[in-house]
Amino acid sequence: MKIGIIGTGYVGMVTAVGLAELGHNVTGTDIVPEKIDKANQGIAPIYEPGLEELLKKHLKAGNLTFSHDLDCTISSTDVLFVSVNTPQQEDGSADMSFVESVSRRIAENLNNYKLIVEKSTVPVKTSSWIKRIICLYKKQDYEFDVASNPEFLREGSAVKDFLEPERIIIGVETDKARDILTKIYKKFQDRILVTNIDTAELIKHASNSFLAMKISFINLISDLCEKTDADVELVAKGMGLDTRIGKQFLKAGIGYGGSCFPKDVRALVKIGEDLGVDLNLLKEVDKVNISRVKKFVDKVKKALWILKGKKIAVLGLAFKPETDDIRNAPSISVIHTLQSEGAQLFLYDPKAMDNMKRVVPESDKVVYAESPYEAVKDTNALLIITEWDEFRCLDLKKIKELMANPILIDGRNIYAPEEVRKLGFEYYSIGR
Ligand code: UGA
Repeated sequence: MKIGIIGTGYVGMVTAVGLAELGHNVTGTDIVPEKIDKANQGIAPIYEPGLEELLKKHLKAGNLTFSHDLDCTISSTDVLFVSVNTPQQEDGSADMSFVESVSRRIAENLNNYKLIVEKSTVPVKTSSWIKRIICLYKKQDYEFDVASNPEFLREGSAVKDFLEPERIIIGVETDKARDILTKIYKKFQDRILVTNIDTAELIKHASNSFLAMKISFINLISDLCEKTDADVELVAKGMGLDTRIGKQFLKAGIGYGGSCFPKDVRALVKIGEDLGVDLNLLKEVDKVNISRVKKFVDKVKKALWILKGKKIAVLGLAFKPETDDIRNAPSISVIHTLQSEGAQLFLYDPKAMDNMKRVVPESDKVVYAESPYEAVKDTNALLIITEWDEFRCLDLKKIKELMANPILIDGRNIYAPEEVRKLGFEYYSIGR
């Protein structure tokens, strides 16, 4: 069975490499020519632990290749995973135009039975549209099926998540499509859940929205903790000991970011609106998340009063550790707010500085440092925005000596309050 991957972004690239590792013959294609050229040279377009090693391994083995030619990729493969982007539009809905244009190209190049698998996160009912478009545009009367196989990988552990999945969701409407997909994922047969297509599409949106809801919930509780003597870390621990609640995604902080949660929560609200279902609960989840940055900057103001002319070090720019991705990163909103107040910023991230330079260019007010120690030199405050392990093991004594004022505002609760205060820091964190 030959597999084509249309769209080699985050999900597509990891899927291509992951399916090759499962032993399949895979061809990836993308409309951005440089991505294909780089991929064929074994260069991954993103930083993701383990990705480049597997990419090189399967290019060498010959069961993974990348092509500029979409038509040829379609006609030479039997199963097509569609992983093109579905960006957020102004009204919160997902822009499905890339999925539509790919569906037309598949229709025009249909030359045998094909299984078209939705891998991108798409609104429920998308498969009906893909089917309709293929029927409208197909030139030859070949059979085809559409299926949904949502991806649950997390940035920073994407390869591991793909190769050690907790679940494989397969949404199908024919036995043939079910058999093909269960064969592709044979290695994980004990974890496969077969559903109809609408259900599979909804499982993805519902999962991401639920996780986002957990985060906004604990962030709201952290507000309550700050008004009382409660400690949000222990509240989360105590709640998480109940297996019905679970301990994951109860980490209070500066809010969720990335290319998925903010977009998917809003998309699900819009899907609800279109279908006449009130999903106001999720509007609140979004609202609580947006308010996190202001609350964090308020802490900076509480410590420094006037930000104009102050030197502030910001450690952590990626939206989460182990990635260079800054899409919807809370750091961007924090930096823009501090800039508008006239602060001078010293930024550092282990992986995301090149990406951030495109959004926040270097200037006399914005300096990118080579190390956390260089970033904090002579600063009036240090902000932690992303919980990279590197920051957990900093020599805080040295940091204190380098700073003009030892003020530490920790947006991810990575330090123990008593310890940093004992070292002489004025320390602010979230919900404790
Ligand atoms: C998320 C989902 O976790 C994946 O299952 C899904 O496949 C993916 O979206 C997607 O739809 O493609 P991802 O966005 O890579 O994955 O990252 P997460 O680890 O889920 O973190 C999302 C955000 O929530 C980050 O900004 C993180 O800092 C924040 N977060 C996470 C918290 O603030 N608190 C927590 O307890 C957990």
